[in-house]
Amino acid sequence: MIKYMGRSAKILGTSKYIPEKIVTNKDLEKIVDTNDEWIVERTGIKKRHFALEGEKCSDLAYRAAVLALEDSGLAADQIDMVLVGTNSPDTVFPSVSCKVQGMLGAVNAGAIDIQAGCTGSLTALSVAASGIASGIWDKVLVIGAEVFKDIIDWTDRGTCILFGDGAGACVLGVSDSEAVGFKSTRLLAEGTSHGLLTLECDENHVTPVVKMKGNEVFRFVNTVMPKFIKKFCEDSDVKPEDIDFWVFHQANTRIIDGVFKRLNVSQDKTLINLPEYGNTSAASLMITLHEAVEAGRIKSGDKVCFVAFGAGMTLGALLYEA
Ligand code: UT7
Repeated sequence: MIKYMGRSAKILGTSKYIPEKIVTNKDLEKIVDTNDEWIVERTGIKKRHFALEGEKCSDLAYRAAVLALEDSGLAADQIDMVLVGTNSPDTVFPSVSCKVQGMLGAVNAGAIDIQAGCTGSLTALSVAASGIASGIWDKVLVIGAEVFKDIIDWTDRGTCILFGDGAGACVLGVSDSEAVGFKSTRLLAEGTSHGLLTLECDENHVTPVVKMKGNEVFRFVNTVMPKFIKKFCEDSDVKPEDIDFWVFHQANTRIIDGVFKRLNVSQDKTLINLPEYGNTSAASLMITLHEAVEAGRIKSGDKVCFVAFGAGMTLGALLYEA
């Protein structure tokens, strides 16, 4: 069973917070042996934003949280749970979510970080909607936030060109209409492929850095995702062509192209912001959701499918009716 039962969870507000510092492909040419043409052609990325010196994951998460609360019209003390999808927390403990709960003064809320690679904020959304459906929470703040600049291996051109920093957030509450809300979700792991994308130390680094078998990740996603999405749609009683808008994890434009081709879905049905931000990992889905809402791309009655994949390997999908 992948369909939600119980109370329907609705999106009440969304936000993004993008740090000011911009690093272009040309800037990266000065650091590693790469060039703008290669990066644009192979990934679609033109630039990325990075946190300023001293700016931590919790700072970005907090800024996005304040904006999402403002957008939802709710006060911090009305929130029951703060969920943060992140792979780059300030510290292993305390969690980013606890820091944000404290900074916000969300005195009635619990706080949990969710680490599921780039699927982190989709996982958090899925858990938030489950908590609302079951009746244990009424209002949940979901955040995706990353500061990758300190965990990037700046000598590895295969990874350092891909990632960027940023945060996005949304607030979920109980829907007043049965038609509107999250309808179904599926979270899947392929743990035998855990070695494809890791954060670890090596002989050259005393602090951990991102290591990725890019080619294998690319192949994995192109093989596994279309099947996963088709099965998710089938179990949710919708056809991929019936989805009005796709909120897709921004990892590589060639991945989005490839998956959409295999699903026979038009690219007009999604929003691509890779050229501006690169891959912001767990923040990517939240930033994309906010930009889609802001641009009026999600209309009342639309069927919206959220899709993400990442380290673990993890896969996730969510169906929402707006
Ligand atoms: O969100 C989490 C999941 N992560 C992903 O989804 C990432 C998935 N993987 C990818 O997006 C792609 O595999 C990359 C963008 C990382 C790499 O693209 P690719 O088309 O798979 O390139 P490749 O690794 O097969 O390398 C092709 C060539 C190689 O040169 P040779 O051996 O053919 O001479 C690389 O050394 O491109 C070279 N290369 C580069 N050249 C210029 C690799 N990185 C760069 C670079 N600039 N930055």
